[in-house]
Amino acid sequence: MSVDTITINRQRGIFEGQASFWLFGYGSLLYKAGFPYLEYRPATIRGWSRRFWQGSHDHRGTPEAPGRVATLVEEPGAVCTGMAYRITPEVLEPLDVREKNGYLRFTTTLMFADGDTAQGLVYIATEDNDAFLGPAPAMEMARHIAQSSGPSGPNRDYLVGVAAALGRLGAEDAHVANLMQALQEVETGSETRRAGRSPARPGTV
Ligand code: BEZ
Repeated sequence: MSVDTITINRQRGIFEGQASFWLFGYGSLLYKAGFPYLEYRPATIRGWSRRFWQGSHDHRGTPEAPGRVATLVEEPGAVCTGMAYRITPEVLEPLDVREKNGYLRFTTTLMFADGDTAQGLVYIATEDNDAFLGPAPAMEMARHIAQSSGPSGPNRDYLVGVAAALGRLGAEDAHVANLMQALQEVETGSETRRAGRSPARPGTV
C-alpha cells in the first residue's frame, strides 16, 4: 500500500509559524533548487550518509522502470555535505508534491563552515517506503542508472549533477565517487573489456 506523503508532510507541521527556516539539500537540490530562496549556504549534517537507494518513479524513472536516486541512511559518525537554502514556509507545499515519491520531512542540525549551527528541514525516504530499493553492488547500480530515464531526464544526469556539485563544494563522498567510476565503466564499455578483472571497488556501496 502506498503512503500519502503529501498529507503526512503537511501534518508534521515542522517549522510552522516561522517566517523562514533552512532546508538541507543533498540530491538534486545540490545543483538545482527550482524554488525561491532567501539565501543558500553549503552545510553538513552528522550521522547520515547519502545513498542511491531510493527508487524514482516520477523524476528519473517511471513506475514500470524506476530510476535510482539519493536518500539518506543513518550511519553513526558519518558526515554528509549538502546545500542549505533559507526558505519561507509556502515553498514547502510544492516541494511536498514534487518529492511525493516516498520522501518525508524530518528535522536535523545543520553545521555551516563558520561553525554556526541551525535546525533545518530535510526530506528523507526511509526504508519502509514502497519505492525504496536498498543497496546493490556498485556496477549493478551504475547499469541501472545508465539505462533509466524519466520526466526529469536521464538518471545518469542526476548522478553526474550530484557528483559535480559535490566537486564544486570540495566535498568527498565515497559512495558517489564509486558510482561515478562504475558509471564511467558502463558508459565506456570498459567493464566488458576488463572482463576477468574485478571492476573498480566491487561490492555493495
Ligand atoms: C534533495 O535534493 O536534497 C532532496 C530534496 C527533496 C527530496 C529528496 C532529496
